[in-house]
Amino acid sequence: MKFFVDTADVAAISELNDLGMVDGVTTNPSLILKSGRNILEVTKEICEIVSGPVSAEVVALTADEMIAEGRKLAEIAPNITVKVPLTHAGLKTCKVLSDNGLMVNVTLCFSANQALLAAKAGATFISPFIGRLDDMNLEGLDLIQDIRTIYDNYDFKTQILAASIRTANHVSQCALIGADVITAPPAVIKGLANHPLTDKGLEQFMSDWAKTGQKIV
Ligand code: G3P
Repeated sequence: MKFFVDTADVAAISELNDLGMVDGVTTNPSLILKSGRNILEVTKEICEIVSGPVSAEVVALTADEMIAEGRKLAEIAPNITVKVPLTHAGLKTCKVLSDNGLMVNVTLCFSANQALLAAKAGATFISPFIGRLDDMNLEGLDLIQDIRTIYDNYDFKTQILAASIRTANHVSQCALIGADVITAPPAVIKGLANHPLTDKGLEQFMSDWAKTGQKIV
């Protein structure tokens, strides 16, 4: 399973990249706002750090304007994935840009039928939002399982990019289901390393090692 980091914070991306945890990056208009940066500049900087797919989202609402924005974003770097919303205009944009050989990530997916449409439109990635379904007392992970089953039934090549991931449990459950990719905030990815028994065990090892009086280097 690939790990994408869901942020436009260059320092955070760089830190995780040094740990070998960044297979790609996803951004959205809210994350660009949070970064306080210009979308074209910050996305270019991210693409200089990360060689995997970097999603940059269009903000127009009509297909013609989305296509124009998508083409402009794609000029930033060869690893740009144009992110479009799951609307009719977004699906049309997906079809046109995919036919032109660009990677497209269809976002704001909340149902299996929406995921089916995105696959038929040639999406490289579909982004179902787990956390936002959980927020409504629905089971976000069920959607990941449903899409996995549907895509496997028909051998769709669109990759399931599980998004709106809030917890370590979301990550492990996505891995068990067989999501192709998860995208999560830096803190969630870093937090996957934490375990109280690891801390306790390390404390014991350090204490015993000190008593040996030895040094390795
Ligand atoms: O990038 C889209 C998605 O991951 C957003 O997550 O936490 O704002 O629902 P969240």
